[in-house]
Amino acid sequence: MILAQITDTHLMSPNPAEPRAAARARALKQSVADINSLDPRPDAVIHTGDMTQTAAATEIALACELLAPLAMPLYVTPGNRDGRQALIGAFFGDDCVADGGFVHYAVNHHPVRLVAIDSLSGNNNKGNFCRARLDALDTTLAQAPARPTALFMHHPPFDVSTSLYPFQYNCRQAVAELATVVSRHDHVVRIFTGHSHRPYVAHFGGTVASTMPSVAPDLRQGDYPAAMADRPVYQLHRFDARGGFVSETRLVDA
Ligand SMILES: [Fe+2]
Repeated sequence: MILAQITDTHLMSPNPAEPRAAARARALKQSVADINSLDPRPDAVIHTGDMTQTAAATEIALACELLAPLAMPLYVTPGNRDGRQALIGAFFGDDCVADGGFVHYAVNHHPVRLVAIDSLSGNNNKGNFCRARLDALDTTLAQAPARPTALFMHHPPFDVSTSLYPFQYNCRQAVAELATVVSRHDHVVRIFTGHSHRPYVAHFGGTVASTMPSVAPDLRQGDYPAAMADRPVYQLHRFDARGGFVSETRLVDA
């Protein structure tokens, strides 16, 4: 199975006076075209949040327009910029929303089971979990213990030491409890996240967890070769039953 990951597109409403708006839209459009051009094509795409800058209806509409050409299924999880309701209205039916209005769902028909986790705190831009979400995850993971499973969410549940703000949750207890749940399920083979706008890989709950650069070029964090400055990047994760996921960051021709 091949999974493409895009994240932190931070789309802005079209505005000729705002050059970032056009640049971010272009970066996503080019990424989508590049994903579609791959041979073999990815089986699915995940967007790990901050699809939009402010969750404005015009931004959501632009996201739908730019993502529509994807030739494979797209699965999304909310970022702190998106707002749950805006994303739910555009991308989900009732079957994808857990009790309490959290965006929580499993995708069962790929070689790797995909489980989306809602990491939004709701009161600031950081992440959080509550008992309802942790219990829902525990239940979902227990439903298919023989299936290799990848989790995806917006906030990395680990310290990104290369960032000025390495820990992005309201409290460590929430992350510790997530680790406890994940560690109970050794079929969790990977955790994919966004939010940090930079590449980073860590161990979490007995598995491997990662985050990646933003698709939005102007928001990318970290040091990169000059040639990357205006080129969108996304990641490809290839799964093999014996070796798990291997990942590469793909640089798109601008
Ligand atoms: Fe972001």
